[in-house]
Amino acid sequence: MEADYSKITTFVIFGASGDLNRRKLIPALFNLHLKRRLPGQCRVIGFSTRKWSDEEYRAQMRAGLKEFTELKFEESEWENFASHMSYIPGSFSEQSDFQTLASKLQNQADGDDNRLYYLASPPRFFPDIISNLGQADLVSEGNGWRRVVVEKPFGRDLASAQELNRTIHRTLNEDQIYRIDHYLGKETVQNVMVFRFANAIFEPVWNRNYIDHVQITVAEEVGVEHRAKFYDHVGVLRDMFQNHLFQLLTLVAMEPPATFEANALRNEKNKVLSAVRPILSDQIETDTIRGQYRGYLNKEGVAQNSKTATYAALRFYIDNWRWQGVPFFLRSGKKLKQKTSEIVIQYKRPPHVMFPMAEGQTITANIMTICLQPDEGIHATFEVKVPDSDVGMKSVPMDFKYAEVFGESALPQAYERLLLDAAQGDASLFTRSDQIELGWQLIDPIIQGWAQNGKPELATYEPGSWGPKEADDFMALGGRRWRIECGEQT
Ligand code: BG6
Repeated sequence: MEADYSKITTFVIFGASGDLNRRKLIPALFNLHLKRRLPGQCRVIGFSTRKWSDEEYRAQMRAGLKEFTELKFEESEWENFASHMSYIPGSFSEQSDFQTLASKLQNQADGDDNRLYYLASPPRFFPDIISNLGQADLVSEGNGWRRVVVEKPFGRDLASAQELNRTIHRTLNEDQIYRIDHYLGKETVQNVMVFRFANAIFEPVWNRNYIDHVQITVAEEVGVEHRAKFYDHVGVLRDMFQNHLFQLLTLVAMEPPATFEANALRNEKNKVLSAVRPILSDQIETDTIRGQYRGYLNKEGVAQNSKTATYAALRFYIDNWRWQGVPFFLRSGKKLKQKTSEIVIQYKRPPHVMFPMAEGQTITANIMTICLQPDEGIHATFEVKVPDSDVGMKSVPMDFKYAEVFGESALPQAYERLLLDAAQGDASLFTRSDQIELGWQLIDPIIQGWAQNGKPELATYEPGSWGPKEADDFMALGGRRWRIECGEQT
């Protein structure tokens, strides 16, 4: 869809004094400005509780840009961009503050603008902000479009997500809502579909006949840092699995959609999630692992004796024709050895070995790895005959690296793409309400099972390790092992 450049586009960011705005949103908008990709005339209004003036707001955002990005900072470009930025100190629950916003919008463009409201506030304020926007008549679309981007977490379980969807739908139509998952803004994540569906050589072997199992790892080196209090109420399943890891799972497992249109893509993703077999109470002990890094309990804001998991590993099966019997192992954790997000497809070994092999030796299975970050690329391994041997074999790599092909700085920040898509009305990379609910249907029983059975026990792992030993045993039981194929090999 083409952007409508005939009107001013106003970005209103709720929670503008928070971290997300400083680290991600303003840098993304500024970079879009540098690339001349923003709609012709843009304004950015920050709305938050801190009592900042316009000048203080601009200074904070400028400092954030310098601290958190590697953008080449050009003073004159910043001045130009910042001259369209302003700030309203206000409460998310106070209708009169939304009237102030309404007057400002009215003064700036006579109300005749397109508007993207971005909910980057703490999630508990989402319902208030949306109903206040409605009451101040800020979302009706007479003059220009009105869209709302909703950050994650979207609810904390199925019931609260459904309630939030109902609240939102009282004020907005579904096509005005953009539920964001920044993983979908990553180039390497979008490339999963291109890799699978623009290459005829991979898709025919992308199924239970050839694939032994799939591993999806999203490992972080950082801990919970300054978000300890928030994180302690959330934990790794809500923070990473319900959204990011499930998005990756659907992209790996989905059928090819007939068109590249938002609802066609979302329908295929939902079919995958609907076919994932829930891990119910009798499998929680065998199919899940939970861990907490040593030192987590000492963080300020973490409850004494907190049982919040900062690491989890799950085994899912997808009950459909393509994937029957293929385990999907998903793991994510904080304070692990290395930051890496990767999808490993482990193929089956050849069905019959005709080569003479030493006792106890087998052929190494082929591996295809999609490295999502930070060492973006795709690696495959295949077997070759070692020269001058009878039939000695060695696994050798075949690599594609983004940095080599497209240059070091070719990959934009995820938020750039997503902000632009939302402003252009393209919802393909945003999550529809039913997908959010399907995700919670898979996560809720695990969270409840952990709380009720106390099993599997919460394992402790050392910061800087690859997570609890129990997670390795869990793989070893099935004769498999976790793999890290991207970045520095360990
Ligand atoms: C966020 C989580 O959604 O994703 C954070 O709330 C996590 O806890 C972050 O650190 C990871 O994002 P990325 O892009 O660094 O992999």
